[in-house]
Amino acid sequence: MTILVTGGAGFIGSNFVLDWLAGSNETVVNLDVLTYAGNRQNLVSLTGDARHVFVQGDIGDTTLVTHLLNTHQPRAILNFAAESHVDRSILGPSEFIKTNVVGTFNLLEATRAYWGNLPDDQKAAFRFLHVSTDEVYGSLSPDAPAFTEEHPYEPNSPYSASKAASDHLVRAYHHTYGMPVLTTNCSNNYGPYHFPEKLIPLVIHNALAGKPLPIYGDGSQVRDWLYVSDHCSAIRTVLANGKVGETYNVGGWNEKRNLEVVKTLCALLDELSPRADGQSYASQITFVRDRPGHDQRYAIDARKLERELGWKPQETFETGIRKTVQWYLANQAWVANITSGQYRQWVDTQYT
Ligand code: NAD
Ligand code: DAU
Repeated sequence: MTILVTGGAGFIGSNFVLDWLAGSNETVVNLDVLTYAGNRQNLVSLTGDARHVFVQGDIGDTTLVTHLLNTHQPRAILNFAAESHVDRSILGPSEFIKTNVVGTFNLLEATRAYWGNLPDDQKAAFRFLHVSTDEVYGSLSPDAPAFTEEHPYEPNSPYSASKAASDHLVRAYHHTYGMPVLTTNCSNNYGPYHFPEKLIPLVIHNALAGKPLPIYGDGSQVRDWLYVSDHCSAIRTVLANGKVGETYNVGGWNEKRNLEVVKTLCALLDELSPRADGQSYASQITFVRDRPGHDQRYAIDARKLERELGWKPQETFETGIRKTVQWYLANQAWVANITSGQYRQWVDTQYT
């Protein structure tokens, strides 16, 4: 048996591939075009492991995807591949439309042709699992209940609009063609291999480098944090037992204001890697221009996944964030490798 994972060299995709192969002997074909966010170093522990077949290529390349499907005959496709950073989508939305909308469309079309020719039993067992985000639901006011699966789609950034478009296409392929799809909408992830353009790894990286810790606006915005391995276990659960055509929200009930997250990171770094001058890393906190159209609050109601499929996260924010800081402290070489050239250009463009 084989699964096809797309975007498996990125943050969540690589965590998923590593988790999958730690618990299963089922081969993973990993299709990733290796944008700035894709990093084969994340998968170095799988070198020489015949259960992992890495292919550098684009989900939008129909010829390549068709070839991979016919050659490897996967029983499922898990679509992680995307442009994922909101700030980049604000500065340049076009790649987001190309991969998240057109790429997903091309992937669905190639899948439809492959799936349509499978024998009946394999056709029924096949799954297309689309990995999406809570950002498609828009922004919540402070006292509003958390997003359920019934919340209307109200995306506010080019990134979330492109993900919403892909979710709609996936839904339509089930409704129109009967393709056995599943969609997960997850809250903010954090953990190992998180690219340091996103808040948590950026703050750890900048703190250790003695640089400012940039807080957009007043830092009052709320995100709902989930440790990445809990997201991976939720995806495995939905793949195994999810009801075809359904969507499942994934989250850990960990709402935190951005300023609180940054102060927690500073306190952990003060404990685990204190500054030479004895001062707290919190003295590096700097308030900067707000993100245009900044969503105020996300919060996920994950009760459907718990009630129907029995999934629960294993980590609290306190345990997960400590593990994360410890991982970055122990993996400074990984950070150094990816924070050169292109990365520095991005930081200059975004923060000056
Ligand atoms: P990431 O940016 O770290 O990784 C994306 C990966 O996709 C990279 O390896 C990149 O090379 C690859 N990729 C990009 N375009 C591609 C293409 N056209 N063809 C093949 N591969 C391509 O992203 P992430 O944070 O790991 O997110 C993975 C998925 O999970 C995305 O779909 C994202 O929308 C979703 N998601 C992310 C979060 C989060 O907090 N990071 C939360 C919920 C959902
Ligand atoms: O909610 C799920 C989403 O979470 C995913 O779909 C996205 O792929 C993922 O990138 C993430 O989006 P966010 O925009 O919430 O994550 P980010 O880490 O970029 O920002 C988190 C919060 O921190 C947000 O309110 C903006 C703020 N922020 C971010 C950066 C990079 C800052 O204050 N300063 C910063 O330098």
